[in-house]
Amino acid sequence: MTIHVKNNIHWVGQRDWEVQDFHGTEYKITKGTSYNSYLIREEKTVLIDTVDHRFSHQFIQNLEMEIDLNSIDYIVINHAEEDHSGALSDLMARIPNTPIYCTEAAIDSIVGHHHHPEWNFKTVKTGDSLDIGNGKQLVFVEAPMLHWPDSMMTYLTGDAVLFSNDAFGQHYCDERLFNDEVDQAELMDQCLRYYSNILTPFSSLVTAKIHEVLSFNLPVDMIATSHGIVWRDNPAQIIEKYLEWANSYQEDRITIFYDSMSNNTRMMADAIAQGIHDVDPGVAVKVFNVSRHDKNEILANVFRSKGVLVGSSTMNNVMMPKVAGMLEEITGLRFKEKKAGAFGSYGWNGGAVDRIHSRLTDAGFQMVEGLKAKWKPDGNALKLCREHGQRIAKLWALGELNVEPMLASNTQPTIEPKALEVEVAATVKVKQEHGPDCQCMICTVCNWVYDPQVGEPNQGVEVGTPWAEVPDYFLCPECNLGKDVFVPHRKEDAA
Ligand code: FEO
Repeated sequence: MTIHVKNNIHWVGQRDWEVQDFHGTEYKITKGTSYNSYLIREEKTVLIDTVDHRFSHQFIQNLEMEIDLNSIDYIVINHAEEDHSGALSDLMARIPNTPIYCTEAAIDSIVGHHHHPEWNFKTVKTGDSLDIGNGKQLVFVEAPMLHWPDSMMTYLTGDAVLFSNDAFGQHYCDERLFNDEVDQAELMDQCLRYYSNILTPFSSLVTAKIHEVLSFNLPVDMIATSHGIVWRDNPAQIIEKYLEWANSYQEDRITIFYDSMSNNTRMMADAIAQGIHDVDPGVAVKVFNVSRHDKNEILANVFRSKGVLVGSSTMNNVMMPKVAGMLEEITGLRFKEKKAGAFGSYGWNGGAVDRIHSRLTDAGFQMVEGLKAKWKPDGNALKLCREHGQRIAKLWALGELNVEPMLASNTQPTIEPKALEVEVAATVKVKQEHGPDCQCMICTVCNWVYDPQVGEPNQGVEVGTPWAEVPDYFLCPECNLGKDVFVPHRKEDAA
């Protein structure tokens, strides 16, 4: 099956209605997905991307119904992940000498997946173009980390179509291909889920890449993604959304998630949520049990929130494993400018709250004091939890609040000194290491820190080398990106 996109462009991709898991089982797909491949037939015939490897046979069969495979002049692989280059082995078995246009990094990942270094690779960089006849050209734009180091976008002049690959896509399946044809709420919900769960760590690169593409002043009539719909109606809307999401996005929302052995931490979560609502009825409070709710939905809510409260019963003096898993994922997603706090019930020690507090501090959240309740919270303890919620609502309010708290207790809240100590210790550490005179530079993608006092001997950068003298070929040892993604690490407010 093919779908006409525009002029001589046809969609030749694959719908996947039944897929439920992506990236192993880490991303739950709730609305199916598609693997979008495009056929351009000008004087030259070009195939842009393929489909997931599980659909290779079907893809080739469909393609052969449409054209003689030998008539394909060029293959463009925007990204080597298997959901896009998966059918390449079967395709190349039939047309082995066809040139494959991709980035230099993609050669490594395509060969790594398909094990054919002899394929006819043509390396392209940003600004390179390929004439496909009838006055049209393909212009390539490297887009590292959107979503892999190998990623790029391809722009077709004349038709003004940007083949953006993962960027601007969503895991969403519908027989209708264009954005104006589908349910708008479902579509934007899946766009946000996709961005928040996959692209958040690369937000600084998203912003930079969009501004780079905009600086070319190229008209964009359509954005043809590699997952989900094609943006033909006001494609600028998803670009604007990405700029908004990439800019430390938050709404007036607080997410509470927890795991609870004996229902006690759940009771605390409910009381805290009520306390927030007492003081700030305008804030959206969403409460999730991590062992029962969709993890990606929770993460999408964290992405939308100004603050997050994380609870766990203490089990063997640590937090419950599903909460630990969530914190690991949150650390990797590198949310910016969000607040957080820890809470939980315990029996004979309360190590979970301390560990959550410490982990969230390390993940860059601005912390409030933790809250612990011993055994099952009684009426008074729940009152304290509710007051804790009220204090947080005030602390995190985005504007003036006119509502007085419903509760007024003479009892001071049970704020555990240990959690406070952790917070203070973490603050002091930042101030000591990265004060106003600090010369360190931090990678905005992975948070690796270049310290001139340490250098980077593995790349020949000696101890004592200031950032300005670090050579241009320097790459972040963690994520392999260049100097342009580094910013000063100093904290202007440090004393
Ligand atoms: Fe849709 Fe990064 O693959």
